[in-house]
Amino acid sequence: MTASYQRPPVTVDNPFFARIWPTVAAHETDQIRALRRENLADLSGRVLEVGAGIGTNFPLYPDAVTQVVAVEPERRLAVRARDAAADARVPVVVSDTAVEDFSAAEPFDAVVCSLVLCSVSDPDSVLRQVFSWLRPGGELRYLEHVASSGIRGRFQRLADATVWPKLAGNCHTHRHTGESIRAAGFEVDHARIEQALPVWVPLPVSEFVLGQAKRPA
Ligand SMILES: C[S@@+](CC[C@H](N)C(=O)[O-])C[C@H]1O[C@@H](n2cnc3c(N)ncnc32)[C@H](O)[C@@H]1O
Repeated sequence: MTASYQRPPVTVDNPFFARIWPTVAAHETDQIRALRRENLADLSGRVLEVGAGIGTNFPLYPDAVTQVVAVEPERRLAVRARDAAADARVPVVVSDTAVEDFSAAEPFDAVVCSLVLCSVSDPDSVLRQVFSWLRPGGELRYLEHVASSGIRGRFQRLADATVWPKLAGNCHTHRHTGESIRAAGFEVDHARIEQALPVWVPLPVSEFVLGQAKRPA
């Protein structure tokens, strides 16, 4: 008899990031806040939010959303997310499983990824999972920072190979997330790139993609 291999649950334990992220999130620019609102605009029904952080998106969900299931495996952040869930206008439940270990009992109308596909170990596999949890015709809404070209792209690769993931909760700045979304089977309805920082700012996170994609019906 051959034993089948079961991988251990994914743990996310980022004490430094969990300490700084609430401050970073509380001081977001108006531009990022507007992009968050746009990412969630006109959503309805049951929504899965992947890696909810401290629940920054929760107050921004439209009333037509009947339930948000939010996964947040970093336990310090999950505590904050539960506090935010209690104040949200729409019902939000927070689960502290990693997205890799989540299983959907019934399909979702939409999945929201915001600033998270940079932090999971294998975004291609997470996107395939997310695709499978959507009903046919269901939507992926995403606001993610992505790979730049030129000098900033080289800076991103250097940052990713050195300190940035350690400081920023496994964030990888040079990811081609738009391509991964298409490769997972999504049809992209629309997507656009926004620059969130002036070119001279020495941070590797500058270019964001905001998009809507569908699981084909
Ligand atoms: C930069 S924060 C963004 C938080 C939130 N999505 C937002 O827009 O404010 C990235 C989040 O992804 C979470 N995360 C990292 N790995 C994860 C995983 N494997 N499954 C689910 N969430 C994860 C982190 O704990 C963190 O809260």
